[in-house]
Order: sequence, then C-alpha cells, then structure tokens
Amino acid sequence: MANIGIIVGSVYGNAQNAAEEAQTFLANQGHEVELHTDADISLFNDHDSFLVVTSTTGVGDVPPNLELFYADAKDTFPLITGKKFAVIALGDSSYGDSYCGAGKQMFELMNELQGEAITDLVEIDAMETFEPEADVLAWLEEHHNSF
Ligand SMILES: Cc1cc2nc3c(=O)[nH]c(=O)nc-3n(C[C@H](O)[C@H](O)[C@H](O)COP(=O)(O)O)c2cc1C
Repeated sequence: MANIGIIVGSVYGNAQNAAEEAQTFLANQGHEVELHTDADISLFNDHDSFLVVTSTTGVGDVPPNLELFYADAKDTFPLITGKKFAVIALGDSSYGDSYCGAGKQMFELMNELQGEAITDLVEIDAMETFEPEADVLAWLEEHHNSF
C-alpha cells in the first residue's frame, strides 16, 4: 500500500469534491492518504506517491490555490525521482486550446521533477459529465494499485 499525497487545485469546488472522494476511496483500499488543499512543496518529502486533481481557470491557468506551489516547484526544482504520480485534470473542452491547461502544466512539472507517471494525463470534460467525481472514482478503481 502506498503513502499518497493528494494535491488539489480548485476554484469553485468541483476538483476539491472529486479529490475528497478520491481520498475516501484510496483510504478504504488501505492506502495512507493526505489531502493538500493549500499545497506547499515541502509535501514532496512526506509521500512516496502523488495524485494531482486540478481544474483550470482563466485561460489555461492553474487555480490560485496552486499558484504558489507551482511557482515554488519551478524555482527550486525539488526532485521526486522515481516517485509515482498521476494528474487528473478537470476542464471544459469549450475553452478550446486552453482545455485542461492547468492539468497539462502540472503533468509536465511532475515529469520535469523526475516523477514516474503511472498513466497519461487524465482529462475530465465538463461538456461530457456533470459528475467528475464519478469519473475519478472509475479511474481509481482501475489504477489505484499502480501508486
Ligand atoms: C472563469 C473560468 C475559466 C475557465 N477556464 C478554463 C480553461 O481555460 N480551460 C478549461 O479546460 N476549463 C476552464 N474552465 C472550466 C473549469 O476548469 C471547470 O468548470 C472545472 O470543473 C471547474 O472546477 P473547480 O470547481 O474545481 O474550479 C474555466 C471555468 C471558469 C469559470
């Protein structure tokens, strides 16, 4: 079983809600899980796996509650070599080119820090579902053992 840090980026609560459901699910599977809604890069030391659940705001932008984390990680480059991660991006394909922009940035960042992605970026489109948490849980059912 893994020690998983969930990193949340959310403006209106959709990603937050999905992340909370993910925490409950993963804990029920026997993983050790901590949810970070006000993420600080020191959390990279506290876990051996990471799940990022983030929406996108503005034009492809990271939500305000993840801005500092993202900037600090880019500046100080805390390597997470070999640690497993996944990124689940909530977005809306009607935004065109900026679709899931924050998730894409976080996925790239985690790769740059030398984490080991357990799958490609997971995109959840608000044009296709009103229940992003259901999609997150379906994805976790299949992949939680890879953390
Ligand atoms: C002001 C605003 C800007 C948005 N910009 C984007 C965007 O650039 N790309 C995208 O894929 N989704 C965008 N979205 C859609 C949100 O990411 C989507 O609705 C998501 O479910 C919101 O999750 P949250 O409640 O956790 O913030 C935007 C939504 C709003 C309200």
